[in-house]
Amino acid sequence: MRGTNSKLIAVIGATGQQGGAVVGALQGSSQFKVRALSRNPDKHRELADEVVKADLNRPESLRAAFEGAHGVFLVTNFWEKGTDELAEATAAVRAAQDAGVKHLIWSTLPDVEAISGGRFHVPHFTGKAKIDRIVKEAGFSHHTFVIAPFYYQNLMGALAPQEQADGTLGWALPLDPDVRCIHMGDIRELGHIVAGAFAHPDQAGNGEYLPLVGDFMSFQEIINTLNRQGHKFSFKRVPKEVFATAFPGGAEAAETFSYFQAHTYLGSNSDYQIALANKIAGRQPTKFSAWAQANFPVETA
Ligand SMILES: NC(=O)c1ccc[n+]([C@@H]2O[C@H](COP(=O)([O-])OP(=O)(O)OC[C@H]3O[C@@H](n4cnc5c(N)ncnc54)[C@H](OP(=O)(O)O)[C@@H]3O)[C@@H](O)[C@H]2O)c1
Repeated sequence: MRGTNSKLIAVIGATGQQGGAVVGALQGSSQFKVRALSRNPDKHRELADEVVKADLNRPESLRAAFEGAHGVFLVTNFWEKGTDELAEATAAVRAAQDAGVKHLIWSTLPDVEAISGGRFHVPHFTGKAKIDRIVKEAGFSHHTFVIAPFYYQNLMGALAPQEQADGTLGWALPLDPDVRCIHMGDIRELGHIVAGAFAHPDQAGNGEYLPLVGDFMSFQEIINTLNRQGHKFSFKRVPKEVFATAFPGGAEAAETFSYFQAHTYLGSNSDYQIALANKIAGRQPTKFSAWAQANFPVETA
């Protein structure tokens, strides 16, 4: 039951994985009312207290989308064709300023170019990091950075196991499987961190970085965990050049794995931020093993 004094939070990406997690967590709290934003609000009428049209590529749609909102959760989708994350996020930040938004939470990622001294180029990470300064300098009463991990869900989606040349099911990646370098998590749990940050701006609204990390693993540990649960997945290390040209987006993915291997996903020791994120979320995120047991069914053909 929402109280009459509940604060309105407008959520970009509400129909997607990150924003959907945020909508879910906010709706579980009597402190907030949720305005889900989508380019196609008519398709998602039941999503939240309000469902309003917003298109990051149509800045004129954003002012009304943010009007009256106390807070905004902002995520951009690098993978959507034609997306310019800098232009989209800048338009959203400006519109939020104009609408008098008090607290903006931006879903960012590490600056790979800075971390690697220019050795690796991973635009879907660095492009988000470059937006941090715009958020910081916008002068909101409160702002927070959340960092999404490598989603556990990727292993059943974009990075699902494939049939290999030797007939096994598994992964062929340009990655040393024994290097522990992947900060991972159940993306549905990002919402608890975001809701916690909106609820505790004193502790998390002054430019804090809050990464969601349920587990930190090597690819071999991922496979061992799944195989202990009854799967029979294989792993083959392939040259970066081969992987990069094997499918559209392969080059970006290959570079991302090289960066993980050299510097880890988060790029530096983030124990303090991870602990703060868990405190703000009010819970420990789910370990990969428990998530896989509940969500990654063993095929019994
Ligand atoms: N997969 C990973 O492991 C991982 C890890 C960290 C970060 N990320 C980042 O996560 C981002 C994607 O987020 P997600 O996984 O939540 O995506 P998703 O599930 O594919 O959903 C994309 C969302 O973006 C919204 N959207 C796209 N273009 C828009 C526009 N022009 N205006 C307004 N809304 C727009 C869509 O809303 P409508 O269609 O309803 O308008 C939809 O809700 C990417 O930038 C990626 O780099 C991914």
